[in-house]
Amino acid sequence: MSKTSTEAAPAATATDAGALEVRDTRTGASYRMPIISVGVEGDTAVRGADLRQMKQGEGDFGLMSYDPAFMNTASCKSAITFIDGDKGILRYRGYPIEQLAERATFLEVAWLLRNGELPTQDEYDKWVHDITYHTYVHENIKRFLEGFRYDAHPMSMLCSSVAALSSFYPEAKNIHDPEQRYISMIRLLAKIPTIAAFCYRHIKGLPFIYPDNDLSYTENFLSMVARMSEPKYSANPVFVKALEVLFILHADHEQNCSTNAVRAVGSSHVDPFSAVAAGVAALYGPLHGGANEAVLHMIKEIGHPKNIPGFIEGVKTGKGQRLMGFGHRVYKSYDPRAKIVKQLADEVFAQIGMDKDLEIAMELERIALSDDYFVSRKLYPNVDFYTGLIYRSMAFPTDFFTVLFAVARTAGWLAQWEEMLLDKEQKIARPRQLYTGYGEREYSSQLASKFPRTKKDPKHG
Ligand code: CMC
Repeated sequence: MSKTSTEAAPAATATDAGALEVRDTRTGASYRMPIISVGVEGDTAVRGADLRQMKQGEGDFGLMSYDPAFMNTASCKSAITFIDGDKGILRYRGYPIEQLAERATFLEVAWLLRNGELPTQDEYDKWVHDITYHTYVHENIKRFLEGFRYDAHPMSMLCSSVAALSSFYPEAKNIHDPEQRYISMIRLLAKIPTIAAFCYRHIKGLPFIYPDNDLSYTENFLSMVARMSEPKYSANPVFVKALEVLFILHADHEQNCSTNAVRAVGSSHVDPFSAVAAGVAALYGPLHGGANEAVLHMIKEIGHPKNIPGFIEGVKTGKGQRLMGFGHRVYKSYDPRAKIVKQLADEVFAQIGMDKDLEIAMELERIALSDDYFVSRKLYPNVDFYTGLIYRSMAFPTDFFTVLFAVARTAGWLAQWEEMLLDKEQKIARPRQLYTGYGEREYSSQLASKFPRTKKDPKHG
């Protein structure tokens, strides 16, 4: 941006879609900021950095944009996932989520997310082969997991174990080497189900089950979770199908909190194991991946459909908790993933019997969708509303739900991480701040002694 002329828009991916003319009332100066338009969906933006030229005089840093929680700031250009939150559309690389969930496999989707196109048979076979043959983890990872307490949260275990993988593969730091990036991605996609299953077995006090390379990705995962004395595990096909679909639905969701964490941490050029560990940490939070767990806690607290009106009243008045599994930063209509999950829940429960809490969930949804509080705020069920019920019907403990989300989201994190690395416009992620603290002041100690000795504990001397 300049005071009078329009800068050329960045070539190739962005076109000049007009300009924003603004007048700074502090100085009377007028500015013209080019509007960039990218992609077939025509997303438009002005560059935040263009504001910097709006100064009150020499030495002024220039105007910043203030956008806590990135409510209206695009942090990158991305060709991976498209969401139209108003229309309830989700597409990976242009393919509608409904079609992928019905017809694709999770590993096919993982390939698609990374490479931009569906794999040919040869590409797919190699991809599946490479992932299958990297499922084993170093025995020390097993011992590392054994060090956790019996009641450790599996997300905490997963997060630290994924970070620990970085120390087993120091060559992964060569992130500018495409071969190293490839093998790191293979290792992460291959080992994260193994680590996740080991976390489960540790909590249950069961022996770890090693991967079975004859099985598919989801079958092998279920085998590592559930196999007991049988020599070969044969998973319930309804559960295999459900897990495959849930993994596809969770594989990516553009610039969500954990993906943003992976990109931000990865922008320091750390290895991908460390960057993905940051994603796992972000996903752990109850406002993000932890919501499916929170939904079941909420349903348990409600206990009976007759208690729903009182619960809803508490949500509306703010005296109670939020209605977990409802609302989304981007979707302002029914989350398309939630529609698929609801249908999947019907299929699963038709086969294995109705879950008693499904009745409470359905009644909650019915009431919320007709209540003005939720309707006027465009609060609809999100993907987490029904997933917990399906996972529980598969006998996964509640605190394991987010781990399942993390296994699937690893595919998206890796695709987004590599896209960020290859994006010439990206640099180390480093936001600005609006400083609100003290101006300069003189140091004057309040302490009687600079290096106080620790006071003796009267009980222990
Ligand atoms: N229950 C009750 N009220 C809500 C809810 C809810 N679940 N979500 C938003 N609101 C209200 C909120 O109180 C506010 O009302 P008001 O305008 O009167 O102050 C209004 O709706 C806007 O809320 P917000 O907090 O500004 O919206 P946000 O975009 O910052 O929050 C959210 C998005 C997902 C954090 C939020 O909807 C929420 O906390 N939902 C429950 C947790 C949940 O289900 N999270 C899973 C998200 S989907 C999976 C994922 O991405 O990980």
